[in-house]
Amino acid sequence: MTPIRFKSTILAACVLSLTACASHHHHDEQHADAGFVPGLGEIMAQTATRHAKLWFAGQAENWALAAYEIDELHEGMEDAGKYHPTHKQIKQAIPELIAQYVDQPLTALEQAINAKNKAEFIANYDKLTAGCNACHQATEFGFNVVQRPSFNPFANQAF
Ligand code: HEC
Repeated sequence: MTPIRFKSTILAACVLSLTACASHHHHDEQHADAGFVPGLGEIMAQTATRHAKLWFAGQAENWALAAYEIDELHEGMEDAGKYHPTHKQIKQAIPELIAQYVDQPLTALEQAINAKNKAEFIANYDKLTAGCNACHQATEFGFNVVQRPSFNPFANQAF
């Protein structure tokens, strides 16, 4: 390869990789900094796990664990709104729906956990569950029905 040809090959490679970088960056803009963004369905599946663990933590009056799970639920809802401000055919914005259906029950649950009040915990747990289902109804995902878990599937975690 002559030096001139070699130079132009390098130039072509640079242009190509710049284009690749630019389009990659553009694609990433609406996404996570790390590059991987869980789908709303995936965030929800994790939310369902936290929701179940929260129940068993509250039943065991393990308030530190309950507080942790509530925090994780909050984060999951934040991620849902941040990464999926809109979703499929849903007309209302996701952050708006979250504020409407679960923000208040989450805060009330947090207060019950801070007060270590099991009766309040149970009452507000059921309100949160109703909020989850109300949002599923509002978004035409009403076939996703959540409830108090009937048994503890987390055999490898102490509650
Ligand atoms: C913004 C309204 C909204 C709120 C609030 C909400 N969800 Fe969802 N949920 C959805 C939507 C939309 C889907 C379907 C997402 C998809 O896969 O396209 C879904 C899906 C699910 C699924 C099915 C996931 C699967 O893989 O089987 C579960 C379980 C679930 N949600 C649990 C919950 C729980 C538990 C809560 C409350 C702590 C909750 N959701 C709160 C909107 C909501």
